[in-house]
Amino acid sequence: MLKLENVSMAIGDNTGEAREIITGINLEFKPGKLYAITGPNGGGKTTIAKVIMGIYKNNSGHVLLDGEDISNLSVSERAKKGIAYAFQQPPRFKGLTVPDMLNIARPGLDQVGIRKSLRDVGLCPEDYQDRDVGPGLSGGEMKRIEIAQVLARDARVSIFDEPEAGVDLWTIQRLIGLIIAKYQNSPKSTAIIITHNERVLPICDEIIVVDGGRIDKQGSGAEIWPLIKDDIECKVKLQCRGEIGYEF
Ligand SMILES: Nc1ncnc2c1ncn2[C@@H]1O[C@H](COP(=O)(O)OP(=O)(O)O)[C@@H](O)[C@H]1O
Ligand SMILES: [Mg+2]
Repeated sequence: MLKLENVSMAIGDNTGEAREIITGINLEFKPGKLYAITGPNGGGKTTIAKVIMGIYKNNSGHVLLDGEDISNLSVSERAKKGIAYAFQQPPRFKGLTVPDMLNIARPGLDQVGIRKSLRDVGLCPEDYQDRDVGPGLSGGEMKRIEIAQVLARDARVSIFDEPEAGVDLWTIQRLIGLIIAKYQNSPKSTAIIITHNERVLPICDEIIVVDGGRIDKQGSGAEIWPLIKDDIECKVKLQCRGEIGYEF
């Protein structure tokens, strides 16, 4: 089980002064459950994910995996222990092909597995055999490949950071459906989805609302969804009309 105990993290700004980005975060993520982290843009959701993955180090508190404090472990040590993170803005690697990337995620994945992984996220395998995970791919393609590689990892704890961002509506439903189907009945693994999606939030075992670097609300999907529904639906409408950007 993954646990955050009183976790805070500060980043120095350009004046050299440290600004606290997340403060006193206490969370418990159990196996076999689907969690959603939501809340306004800039609230600290990605920071929580990066602190779990070890991309950012917490200044205080503890990140515990099965009771072991992993706060000082590197990203690769945490990956070996079974934590996977699909970036909100996936990094690009020139010179690395799409099949290479899936092979790194899951060594030994054969051609059939690679083709299935790509098809699952709506990509035609033939088009990606020799493609670089570099600047030639669109944001939406990068997002799908990133999700495919985290799904291929089959990690104990998988974190998807806004899987819907930059992806067309039809594909969003497909990607989200895939993530839910994979994790909903998976007794050993935990999925954490950072999302504003109105189809995902109500069905999650738990919704965590992060605002201003703190946990604002927390509870079952059924409990929390009615409290945040109007706000999220209103923003989705504005986004569809092009009145605000996707991130909010
Ligand atoms: N590396 C960084 N350097 C400076 N500020 C950062 C850094 N990472 C995040 N922040 C700031 O922390 C706040 C929370 O960011 P983030 O966790 O990305 O929010 P969210 O994912 O909820 O939109 C924002 O104000 C953001 O600008
Ligand atoms: Mg974010």
